[in-house]
Amino acid sequence: MSRLPPDISPERILSRLTARVIGRELTVLPEIGSTNDAVMAAGQEGRREGFAVLADRQAGGRGRLGRVWASLPGVGIYTSVLLRPTVPPHQTPLLTLMAGLAVAEAIHAVAQIRPGLKWPNDVLLQHRKVAGILTEMASVGARVSHVSLGIGINVHHGREDFPAEVRATATSLLIGTGRSVDRGELVAALYDALDRWYALFCSGDRAGILQAAREQSATLGRDVTVESRTDRWQGVAVDLDADGALLVRGEDGAVRRVLADDVSIRAGLGP
Ligand code: BTN
Repeated sequence: MSRLPPDISPERILSRLTARVIGRELTVLPEIGSTNDAVMAAGQEGRREGFAVLADRQAGGRGRLGRVWASLPGVGIYTSVLLRPTVPPHQTPLLTLMAGLAVAEAIHAVAQIRPGLKWPNDVLLQHRKVAGILTEMASVGARVSHVSLGIGINVHHGREDFPAEVRATATSLLIGTGRSVDRGELVAALYDALDRWYALFCSGDRAGILQAAREQSATLGRDVTVESRTDRWQGVAVDLDADGALLVRGEDGAVRRVLADDVSIRAGLGP
């Protein structure tokens, strides 16, 4: 079994943490299948909100729409956080937007660079993906039982560390800034930022989250292609709906809500 690298030891992270809820109970492992699986299981077993799992490596890291999230040791942050929001399931997409805001804030705090947010779950640096979010939920009847907010951040990756199929579209903090960011500091900044944004979510200030997500969006105002299993169409991303859905004006002028489909930004680097 591999050993835990000292930069992400729980003692280092907890000594930097100011969060009240998120990350206060923390398990850090050298390797795991997927931190999201561990946190969904912990949710089922009744663990407290805020419980976080962080791993140096994932053997089965996964992303949205069944994609693989390559999770090499030593270079990334792979973490999932347990939430128990008292909201109906249809409000959980807002948690993904909220997590994007927290990731962007943490990166800014530690790397002094401002990422953009590509709807719904990507964090971009210089138009390439530096982080992704996978929100999974269990519900009981009409209410959410628990949520695993899974976050992957590319920290020390060189280009050769990315699988060939994402090499042209992925980046890392090292590639984007030319500097080496301390993973332990970044994790603590991430849990602190999540703590603040989640407190806002729980206070009911959904409008505040939506407004910040609009302001930091790399998608709004852009030409996009929307793809589902059965359909592919083009339009302009015009706004976020109250539940976090993306509003896209199609070529026929009608505005449609996009919630689960894949959205890609079309050529032209935009603003
Ligand atoms: C995406 O971009 O599609 C989401 C990627 C999410 C990756 C993180 S890494 C920690 C957590 N565990 C997983 O298996 N996935 C998420």
